[in-house]
Amino acid sequence: MSVIRTAVTGVGSFLPEQVITNAELSKTVDTSDEWIVERTGIRQRHKARDDQPTSDLAVEAAKRALEDAGKSVSDVDLIIVATTTPDKTFPATAALVQQKLGAPVGIAFDVQAVCSGFVYALSVADGFVARGMAKCALVIGAEEMTRLMDWNDRTTCVLFGDGAGAFVLEPREGQGTKDDQGILGFALRCDGSKTDLLYVDGGPATTGTVGHLRMIGNQVFRHAVVNISEAIVSAAKAADITIPEIDWFVPHQANQRIIRGVGERLGLDENRVVSTVDQHANTSAASIPLAMDVAIKDGRIKRGDLVVLEAMGGGLTWGACAFRL
Ligand code: ACO
Repeated sequence: MSVIRTAVTGVGSFLPEQVITNAELSKTVDTSDEWIVERTGIRQRHKARDDQPTSDLAVEAAKRALEDAGKSVSDVDLIIVATTTPDKTFPATAALVQQKLGAPVGIAFDVQAVCSGFVYALSVADGFVARGMAKCALVIGAEEMTRLMDWNDRTTCVLFGDGAGAFVLEPREGQGTKDDQGILGFALRCDGSKTDLLYVDGGPATTGTVGHLRMIGNQVFRHAVVNISEAIVSAAKAADITIPEIDWFVPHQANQRIIRGVGERLGLDENRVVSTVDQHANTSAASIPLAMDVAIKDGRIKRGDLVVLEAMGGGLTWGACAFRL
């Protein structure tokens, strides 16, 4: 049976220039390189300049993804930006990206599911592409999490960084089997009863301020491995694939211990797990496309490989996506 699949035809990413190491952070907050590496695997994070908004990072990642796909800006008919750190409350960062790219009038909006935003945004874009409403979609994860930090709170400020990554998505004809190129299955979840475990203590309709990120890290940690593993198993089922068939596991990069825990629970070969958390820290919705780009550019992930993405974040939200590159 012939079906329209949503294929990932280009991937790109961008990191702001400034790097802050654990050693530098430990000069201003009561922490150490040893604690951060042992508990999280993080060694450094990137930080945007004051005059460099989220949309600027998104635009650079988008340009690189379009080049990778061999598409031009004039082809783009859908832009979805997954972000929890928009330039402004409105317009959507996606509208600003469309303007800065010089893309034609089309569909553009943001998706807000915190660290799970990229997986959620892919599912939304998949709907547009599969229904014939978009022929060249940009899905971008772009974040400046450093803007949300309370730099006196050592339990959060060491964990996050800035960056952006983008996928170009195009329709491809498939046979409706797991051998098709493109997105094969999703599992998406939100448990709103746990909003108080991870949130920002500000907002336009409450304090009127941007606010700071607050997290009860060890409680979020407790939910992470179990929830993420369940979502991966569900996405694999929806894609009609088995766990051993997965060529590459590209997780959200929050904590190396979570990544390892999920890998062990599912019996994934650790050489098939992409980890960039040491270099990028937690870039929220940007972390998955950033990690994908690294592993494609260094030659690990190749066209035809079966890839599974997963994420978990504020909400609590979580989810997974299986696709063949
Ligand atoms: N440096 C030194 N000590 C620290 C630091 C630090 N930066 N941060 C916390 N500590 C201390 C704590 O104060 C505590 O001290 P105490 O025992 O004297 O009270 C001790 O270290 C242990 O603290 P825990 O919070 O229990 O440490 P844990 O091993 O759980 O690690 C971490 C904390 C890294 C936050 C972990 O819980 C985690 O990764 N949680 C999940 C985060 C996540 O995945 N979030 C979802 C995505 S984010 C998003 O959606 C925006």
